[in-house]
Amino acid sequence: MNAYIDKAVESFRELITEQLERQNRMEAGAEVKDFAHMDKLVIGACGGDGIGPIITKEAERVLAFLLKDEIEAGRVEIRSIDGLTIEKRTEVGKAIPDDTLEALKACDVILKGPTTTPHGGSLESANVAMRRELDLYANVRPVSVPELGIDWVFYRENSEGEYVLGSRGVEIPGKLAMDFKVTTDAGTRRIARAAFEYAKNNGKTNVAIVTKANIMKKTDGKFSAICHEIAADYPGIEAEDWYIDIMTANLVNEARRSQFQVFVLPNLYGDIITDEAAQIQGGVGTAGSANVGDRYAMFEAIHGSAPRMIEMGRGDYANPASILKAAAMLLRHIARVEEAEKLEKALAICNDKLNMTGRPGGATCAEFADAVMATVASL
Ligand code: IPM
Ligand code: MG
Repeated sequence: MNAYIDKAVESFRELITEQLERQNRMEAGAEVKDFAHMDKLVIGACGGDGIGPIITKEAERVLAFLLKDEIEAGRVEIRSIDGLTIEKRTEVGKAIPDDTLEALKACDVILKGPTTTPHGGSLESANVAMRRELDLYANVRPVSVPELGIDWVFYRENSEGEYVLGSRGVEIPGKLAMDFKVTTDAGTRRIARAAFEYAKNNGKTNVAIVTKANIMKKTDGKFSAICHEIAADYPGIEAEDWYIDIMTANLVNEARRSQFQVFVLPNLYGDIITDEAAQIQGGVGTAGSANVGDRYAMFEAIHGSAPRMIEMGRGDYANPASILKAAAMLLRHIARVEEAEKLEKALAICNDKLNMTGRPGGATCAEFADAVMATVASL
């Protein structure tokens, strides 16, 4: 037993040192890219697995259509990035192959199709690896259901919490297992700042800070305290503490839920509650997800890669609505607001108009994209 304890203590020292270094790097700050004022902006598109390449190709086509003038003038480039496939990732034994990562880092913003994450084994999720490698610390997930008065935006901390050491816990077989949750000052400050800035810039008056600080006293206690510190810079915005358990209940509480506006929360709670919120909107396939950092941003479809559709030869009938929603978020992020609004409007129209059944008889992915472009042109 003692040997296990010694080994765990030794590795714990390493973990603390490493995490402290990470916090100090964050504190030193990164250069913040101003996407609205760049001479040239590169949009990387990576297809991923399963239906990913099919829907991403259509999204690329729509983006190229919307940004045609800027592409012709050389101000914007859409660049296809290969290699983020399960075959290649398995072959090299890396969540993101080195050359693919290099190609991603040469872009400014990225549109990403779904990637397969194998159960078990040691291959890390490409998603989690990309968030870490590009330091995409804010996972922004809007959910809106106008007829129910719901207009929410979740700011999920995306780089630490329960995820950062998720595969580096300790175990004494047959006896116990421990995982670690890490909350840093700098990591919390930057997500809190992002949430309050969003609130300020969008006329919101309330930010819900969602934790379980009554139980996770150190980490969530810090998260809440730092969010309040940041809130002091935003006098017109109310910062309210909520516990995650009652918040999950309140999202389905019709008398309460329409009063929430912006949420800021640690990684795992954010992961869970944004699925709940997306379901209220109509399912996880209807949501868009932005992963935003100071230098890079990645926008993704949040559904899976649907390998069965490919096996059954129905890939061409995949619905590109979620990745197109992500493309609209990308356009907004790079300050192409007019184009983003056009795409959002066209998407709402086409979602109603086209019959996407996922099989022959329904509309194809390419037909959906054609309809979106035709609708944009008619707006
Ligand atoms: C999400 C997903 C990911 C996460 C998985 C695929 C690692 O559930 O984006 O919400 O847990 O963050
Ligand atoms: Mg999730």
